[in-house]
Amino acid sequence: MTRPLPDALLMVPHRRDVPFSKLTTLGVGGLCRWLFEPTTELEAQTFVRACVQEGLAWRVLGGGSNLVVLGDLTMPVLRLALPKTIHREGHRLTTHASHGHIALAEAAAGAGLSGLEFASGIPGSLGGAIRMNAGAYGREWVDVLTRYRFLTPEGDLVEKAPEPGEFRYRWSFLTGGHVVLSATAELVEGDSATIRAQVADYREKRGTSQPLSKRNAGCIFKNPPGQSAGRLIDQAGLKGLRLGDAEVSLEHANFLVNHGKATATEFAELMGQVRTKVWEVHGVELEPEVEIWRE
Ligand code: EPU
Repeated sequence: MTRPLPDALLMVPHRRDVPFSKLTTLGVGGLCRWLFEPTTELEAQTFVRACVQEGLAWRVLGGGSNLVVLGDLTMPVLRLALPKTIHREGHRLTTHASHGHIALAEAAAGAGLSGLEFASGIPGSLGGAIRMNAGAYGREWVDVLTRYRFLTPEGDLVEKAPEPGEFRYRWSFLTGGHVVLSATAELVEGDSATIRAQVADYREKRGTSQPLSKRNAGCIFKNPPGQSAGRLIDQAGLKGLRLGDAEVSLEHANFLVNHGKATATEFAELMGQVRTKVWEVHGVELEPEVEIWRE
């Protein structure tokens, strides 16, 4: 950081020089020079307002399950540390964005509420899942989302119902400095045993088709309309393509795995090679699903 951070920002709980390898599921990346971890919505708002006032760019980090960071980052990074409570009202569950996504799906199943079974194998935080409109097995978050709270990039607090155009396949408008604070899912009453059986079935499917025992960041590329990125990469003969300890998974071609000592640069380079080859073989341009951050 070339200039000192303002006092208002430094009042928000923070840590210095945290390795991104500890903040991301792929386990790579440089240092997060300033990691801000607000424990209240007000502190989160203070963070955004202070950054805006100082003209500082910032990043929002969730569970780090969809992220590769190249090098060190000196800009302030926000990672919510809000209370891990789940508020139930009838069939609706409201949760803070920093809540674990899988834990929320499990809590819903335990409460006999159906609708979040699809989420039971998707890692990361609820905020990241909303921001990405995460999904699996033909379902996605916008199917169950009834209300959500967020901070605008100016630091204003908004609570609203989702509207058409705000969420699409693996996309929402909540990028570029928006901070998701909480979300409410409208679920339906179900039988706990049936819900748990569905969750177990999804888990088994995932376990047999995805390299879950190795460090990974989920699917690396979005599925092009009507196609499967995994199949395209597989057909291009790229399974097992390796740079150092970074490898195109042998189990699912749209996953990259870290065999231990891979670096962020190797992952970025491998993604580039996969994109180029798929373009050459299929004439299809793959769009990354994971985010790449650099200073
Ligand atoms: N396939 C191959 N080779 C591979 C991988 C897949 O030929 O190496 C084929 C499969 O045989 C299947 C088709 O491609 O016929 C689709 O594969 P799969 O069922 O694994 O689904 P996917 O489209 O690759 C999507 C999501 C996953 C989600 C699964 C299950 C995306 C980019 N991926 O994968 O989400 O878990 O469906 O619903 O939308 C993620 O978003 O990070 C993610 C992992």
